Amino acid sequence: MASPGFTSESSSPPAPAPVDPSGAASAVPSEVAVTESARSRIPRFYQLSIDERRELLRARITLSEAEVATLDSGGIHPSVADQVVENVVGVYALPLGLGLNFQVNGRDVLVPMAVEEPSVIAAASNAARMVREGGGFAADADEPIMTAQIELLGVPDPAAARARIEAASDELLAMAGATLPRLLERGGGPRELEVRLGNHPARVIVHVHVDCRNAMGANMVNTVAECLAERLAALADGRSGLRILTNLCDRRLVRVRARVPVAALGVKGAAEAGASAGEAFSGAEVRDGIVAASQFAEDDPYRAATHNKGIMNGVDAVVIATGNDWRGVEAGAHAFAAANGRGQYGPLAVWRADDDGNLVGKLEMPMPVGVVGGTVKAHAGARLAHRILGPAAASATELAMVIGSVGLASNLAALRALATDGIQRGHMALHRRSAELKHDGPAARAPGGTIERAMERPTERPSKEGSP
Ligand code: MEV
Repeated sequence: MASPGFTSESSSPPAPAPVDPSGAASAVPSEVAVTESARSRIPRFYQLSIDERRELLRARITLSEAEVATLDSGGIHPSVADQVVENVVGVYALPLGLGLNFQVNGRDVLVPMAVEEPSVIAAASNAARMVREGGGFAADADEPIMTAQIELLGVPDPAAARARIEAASDELLAMAGATLPRLLERGGGPRELEVRLGNHPARVIVHVHVDCRNAMGANMVNTVAECLAERLAALADGRSGLRILTNLCDRRLVRVRARVPVAALGVKGAAEAGASAGEAFSGAEVRDGIVAASQFAEDDPYRAATHNKGIMNGVDAVVIATGNDWRGVEAGAHAFAAANGRGQYGPLAVWRADDDGNLVGKLEMPMPVGVVGGTVKAHAGARLAHRILGPAAASATELAMVIGSVGLASNLAALRALATDGIQRGHMALHRRSAELKHDGPAARAPGGTIERAMERPTERPSKEGSP
């Protein structure tokens, strides 16, 4: 899939939408005529009430009353939940927020994020604003290939079995395709068969790579694995063992690049009485700190695990909001981080300075997500998330590119915080924000109030309970 480079045409940020100069907390920015190029820029969104935020969302997409109601109900009724899983006694909801400022391959995208951890959404939005100043995220994704894995056991001569299976490849792919007529109609289907000999002397492993088009594809790939097992066992003169997809879907990668002008990276110091805030960390200091943090993750698997957790903060929030299987995405991400030819578990995103002194980040990871199928059909909240994404969720690969961008933004925000103030400052600001919201309500939203201060330094935060 083509991806734009970082062109000078795309590098200038769009003019900010007008904001009520009074900054009154109740004023909704008067930007009802939303242009596509400013669709995801909503200054001072955090200062508004939930109703005001919904109004701004409705200025961007037409929402029915039922869809608005979904925002209150969480999107799934217990009677529907009862048809989805077992032993249902109710439903369990998560906060849903909007990731702002995202521009992916030149297109503005409002990103629905479902997450319980404070500051993940603010931090990703803040990082996306910095990346926007460098032209936005440039992303590309592989074709949506998932892989069926069939284990053959008790194979007397694995090398000969491999030769026989490879010779029967066309027949086997046709058999697999016959089980997926609707996928074939949509232009997908089995593409390639691969035979691997493991360490076990009598085991042969067969992979069938299937283009799942707009589905995540687990069910289709498992069907393929089961339908081919007996024929493969006969060809191998052995018996079939496990028949299931692999979550290490390394033919379904997303790649995202971001460039941040060094001037966008600086961190302001606290304002003294009567004086404006100075720069506590220059852009160059922040850039070098982020590069050093990236190198730490490249060298040390203990750090890489936490670095990747910060990426997954953003990734999972979108994966969950869009009704996708976050366990599959997590399994694929960490297996890829461990098996990427580096000899040890490594980071899914790395950062360097380019020749002009800009900070440049690159993310690569599997992204097995779909825009059709089970949960998307059953869950009104997931359907609404797809509507909010609009054309950015028109296909599985488009959605993968958005999710990868949010992962890279989350990583940038976390490393910027760690390389400067540390994360506790944001943590404490967010504690105060929660307390003020509880006790002071609107006062906390006022200009200069706790919320504004917390959102201006939206760092990633560690656990209150249970995280990371
Ligand atoms: C916390 O949820 C995520 C971080 O630990 C990520 C990181 O250390 O890079 C802040």
